[in-house]
This record gives sequence, C-alpha cells and structure tokens, in this order.
Amino acid sequence: MQSMPQLGVGTFRLEGEVARKTVSDALSTGFRHIDTAQFYGNEEEIGNAIQTAGLPREELFVTTKVWHDHLDKGHFIPSVHESLNKLKMAYVDLLLIHWPSPNDHIPMESYLASLKQAKEEGLTRHIGVSNFTMAQIDKAVEILGEGEILTNQVELHPFMQNRQVVEHCKQAGISTTAYMPFAVGEVMKNDELKAIADAHGANPAQVVLAWMEVKGIHAIPSSTNKDHLQANFDYTAVTLSEDDVARIDELDNGERIVDPDFAPQWD
Ligand SMILES: NC(=O)c1ccc[n+]([C@@H]2O[C@H](COP(=O)([O-])OP(=O)(O)OC[C@H]3O[C@@H](n4cnc5c(N)ncnc54)[C@H](OP(=O)(O)O)[C@@H]3O)[C@@H](O)[C@H]2O)c1
Repeated sequence: MQSMPQLGVGTFRLEGEVARKTVSDALSTGFRHIDTAQFYGNEEEIGNAIQTAGLPREELFVTTKVWHDHLDKGHFIPSVHESLNKLKMAYVDLLLIHWPSPNDHIPMESYLASLKQAKEEGLTRHIGVSNFTMAQIDKAVEILGEGEILTNQVELHPFMQNRQVVEHCKQAGISTTAYMPFAVGEVMKNDELKAIADAHGANPAQVVLAWMEVKGIHAIPSSTNKDHLQANFDYTAVTLSEDDVARIDELDNGERIVDPDFAPQWD
C-alpha cells in the first residue's frame, strides 16, 4: 500500500474534459498521487481517468475532501459514498475535512467522529484536515487522539511559508501538505527563484518543489500542460544548496491567496 507520495497533482478549477485529460496525462507521466474534493465537481471525470489508466489500485494515492455543507451527521457518510461512486473506487487513501465548520456551526466533535467512522468503515485508509489553525489542530488531536491525523493541507508557497503552523503540526506528528505551491503561477515570475533555477538549469517550479522536499512538506501543484507535468515530476533532478534554501526562506511575506469569508481566524 502506498504511503502519501511527496508529490501529487492538484485538480482545483479543472472541469469536465480538462480534468479527465489532466489526470490521464499525470498518470502517464508517473504521478500516483491525485488531489480532488467534493467541491471541485470533478470526481466523476477523475474516476474516469483513473479507471481508463487501469493501474493497480494499491499503486495510487487518491485524496478527496468533505465540503463544509456535508459536515453534519446526516450528510457526512452519504457524501463520502457519493464521492466514492463518482471516483469509481471502494476507498480513498486520504479523506480530509476541507474547511473547519464555519463559526463552529457543526461542532468539531461531531464531524471528526464522522471522519473517524469513515475510516473505521473502510471508506478511507487515512484521515486528515485542511485549513486548520494551530488551535484547531490541538482540539482535533484532543478529540481523535495522537497518531490519527495524517496531514493538514494548507496554503503554502515561498511567499506564504506558514512556518508556525508547519512546526506546530510537526510537533503533533502531523505532516503538512502545501496547496497552491506555485502561488497559482506567481513563482514563475519571481526574479530570485528564476536566478536560482537558472543556476541549476531548471525552472522555478522545480526549484520550489525541491525546496519543499528539503522542508519535509508534501506538494500538490496542478498543471493542465503535459510538459509542465513532466517538468514538475522531474523536480528531483534539482539539489539545492543550503544557500539556495536560505534565499527561498527569505521570500516569505505572508502573501495569502485563499481567504474566503468562511475561513477561520488564521494564525
Ligand atoms: N485544501 C484547500 O482548501 C485547497 C485550496 C486550493 C487548492 N488546493 C489544491 O491545491 C492544488 C494546487 O493549487 P492551484 O492549482 O490552485 O495552484 P498552483 O499549483 O500553485 O499553480 C497552478 C498554476 O501553475 C502553473 N504551472 C504548474 N506547473 C508549471 C510549470 N512547470 N511551469 C509553468 N507553470 C506551471 C499552472 O499552469 P498550467 O496549467 O499552464 O501548467 C497553473 O496556472 C489545487 O489544484 C487543489 O488540488 C486545495
């Protein structure tokens, strides 16, 4: 069985045929870790791409996320069955709470009990959270116990490094998965990242992925372009020096991209 691969492919904003083709291209490139969510509306197309690829199920690591409309007891487990039907699989590898319930409308004790139930019923191999603050992580660990939460998926890129949250999760034995690792393409335009990339005969996207690996952070960039998928997959050819890493560390300016009105009080 797969543990969570360091690199996955994201699918936010990808709809219909674009979602199907992207996942199909990603699988033929060698990606085995796919990130989707109920909210993205593309589980069906992703299921089609996975089914057509015909890879052994145990080689794949598929993540989906329960949207906050489905966190109540009556909707949670049925919504996971619906995701699995669309994905055409008996289980996902990782089931995440996409966002903490806005204003604790649904108590955390309730939706984490449903999350645990999904694991106990074999609907997912691992469970985790997304967009959780440090206080919410502490509360979740108190509710579920240590060792239950695999990862906290949060916005993280060179311009928003979220260091406190990463360190806090690490202390609790929880990994961090970076969403929007390329700041939705902004990293490609940054002069410092371009200079580091040039020195390695690489591109800024590859440099960012190599930096995340040094930091022990998983990454799930998206790309609809087959050449970009290949370049991202080949990031392991880049070995950063300590000086490169320090230069990228300097780029943090707390520039948050995702901040909907239902977001928690960020750390
Ligand atoms: N948990 C959450 O709340 C949450 C929120 C947001 C996102 N996510 C997840 O995180 C994933 C990644 O975030 P994202 O897709 O918004 O942003 P991203 O991965 O930071 O950036 C995607 C952009 O980077 C470009 N790109 C990718 N590889 C490239 C390369 N090698 N060279 C040049 N450009 C490249 C893509 O363009 P091309 O298509 O042209 O390559 C696309 O415009 C999402 O797809 C989703 O799965 C989770």
